[in-house]
Amino acid sequence: MPATFDPDRFQELLDTRTLGHPTVYLASTASTQDVARRRAQGGAAEGLLVVADQQTAGRGRQGRRWVSPPGTNLYFTLVLRPRASELATIAMACPLAVVEGIEAITALKAGIKWPNDVLVNGKKIGGILVDSELEGERVHHALAGIGVNVNFDPRSQPEIAEIATSVMAASGQKASREELLAAILGRLEAYYLSSTANDVFDAWSQRLVHMGDDVTVHSSSGELVSGRAESVNADGSLVLLKRDGERVTLPSGQMAAAS
Ligand code: BTN
Repeated sequence: MPATFDPDRFQELLDTRTLGHPTVYLASTASTQDVARRRAQGGAAEGLLVVADQQTAGRGRQGRRWVSPPGTNLYFTLVLRPRASELATIAMACPLAVVEGIEAITALKAGIKWPNDVLVNGKKIGGILVDSELEGERVHHALAGIGVNVNFDPRSQPEIAEIATSVMAASGQKASREELLAAILGRLEAYYLSSTANDVFDAWSQRLVHMGDDVTVHSSSGELVSGRAESVNADGSLVLLKRDGERVTLPSGQMAAAS
């Protein structure tokens, strides 16, 4: 299996009508979010995919760095043009598509840590960053940025070695990045363009791994809130039952870390 991403092979495997049409492939860029933002601001249609073999300044949520070495993982951003009411569905559809894509091409079982981290064996294998630009009530564009650790050895990055995994680390086998990307986009298109919001919510909530557990999450004011993860609402928010009996609802937009 070649170490470099093969854009032609990916196009042969891609079975979508909108997502990935067209695809912009870059051997190296600072962040695919930045390239996609410039294209979206310049009028790119829904479906444009920016995929890079390496990111030199990959970003995670809450200002964190996203480790993006060359020749190993998937780093990509899709330009979407949703209605404001579809943003919550996108935030659920992205991790679902990654979970199902991984399960389609490997024997691994994956799950979602609220709201949208993808886990395998309790460790993070994929992350989602959705940046939206609004014009009043209207969404100008949403940038769905997805990183998946594929053929990467987490031990090579001491800062995340304990909390991260990859397809190769979890399964013992290298996987095709082209095949995995095509599988993820196929599922994302089905959830985003052909499913109801209710169906996406049901599928997403069934994949959440910490429901019923004691978790700690960041509130919107940045403080940590602990409690039992009781339920999720259709907008993606999490209901926590605190030890003092108070119930709090945390919007998924907070992108909190559950443990
Ligand atoms: C997270 O913190 O879990 C979100 C990680 C999102 C990483 C992806 S990789 C492709 C896109 N480009 C970036 O700079 N970030 C996202």
